[in-house]
Amino acid sequence: MKYINSPISDIKFDDQQIYLKRDDLLHIDFSGNKARKFYYYLINEFKDITKVIGYGSAQANSLHTFSVLAKLKNWKLDFYVDHIASYIKDNPEGNYKSALENGANIISMQDIQTNKKTLDYIKEDVLPNEKNVAFVPEGGRCKEAEYGISILAEEIKTWAEEKSYDELKIVLPSGTGTTALFLQKNLPKYEVLTCACVGGDDYLKKQFFELSKDEKNHPRILNTGKKYHFGKLYKEFYEMYNELYSSTNVEFELLYDPQAWINFREYLKNKDFSSNTQFLYIHQGGLLGNITMLKRYRRKF
Ligand SMILES: Cc1ncc(COP(=O)(O)O)c(C=O)c1O
Repeated sequence: MKYINSPISDIKFDDQQIYLKRDDLLHIDFSGNKARKFYYYLINEFKDITKVIGYGSAQANSLHTFSVLAKLKNWKLDFYVDHIASYIKDNPEGNYKSALENGANIISMQDIQTNKKTLDYIKEDVLPNEKNVAFVPEGGRCKEAEYGISILAEEIKTWAEEKSYDELKIVLPSGTGTTALFLQKNLPKYEVLTCACVGGDDYLKKQFFELSKDEKNHPRILNTGKKYHFGKLYKEFYEMYNELYSSTNVEFELLYDPQAWINFREYLKNKDFSSNTQFLYIHQGGLLGNITMLKRYRRKF
């Protein structure tokens, strides 16, 4: 499977024209930033591999994308999670449900007799006993991710050059920071603006250093000063999701995107950029996760 260049459309946000790179529309089964990160595994031949091992949350976008990848490649998938909430186990939804349908073997650490953390357990007790496996770190935070993200960068560069946009800024939220960092590294001419949705700015900076010691490759981190805890429900997130949906007809996801748009709004207000600046927001998919998030939000607000 080869996917095509994702489309770019534009919206108005606070009277500013913003382009959207619709990576959520990349491919029906294989989209968003996980598709970019796992592209390396998708298109290369791994003759000896019969199984892929990953870990993360039972509702993670990566679980869904992993399961699609494994199915396409005819690999088994063992995906380790710290726990599975009992209501999800009984009523599978979203990423968890689709992964089960794709044949993923989802292993809860609750069912394993160990005091070790998931990653240590996989490294010390699982991998040494497995042959012909590929192990992919949580959220696809690995060097291989650069392969697909550099293709995204190339698509952006070609588009910007065709439009003669020299002062382009690229906006996207970060979790592990892998996507934002590899974009900045592969697009040195343009500035990448991001925000830390997981673990705060210090954590994100640390992640950047792990992937590249050269600070030239580090995106700029936006911050409104408000601390958010990943996965918690915030009224302003839900309001931002609804505002964007009703004004643009585009659905964004609820864990990362609202925080990026809140930060971006503040950045636009400060007008600390030239009038020739063009903005491109990367829609990184993850909409399957909205099924459970929307239920939680509707219950709470
Ligand atoms: C929808 C969405 N946005 C943003 C991110 C953050 O990406 P990264 O971990 O590369 O910073 C993720 C990641 O997992 C995601 O699923």
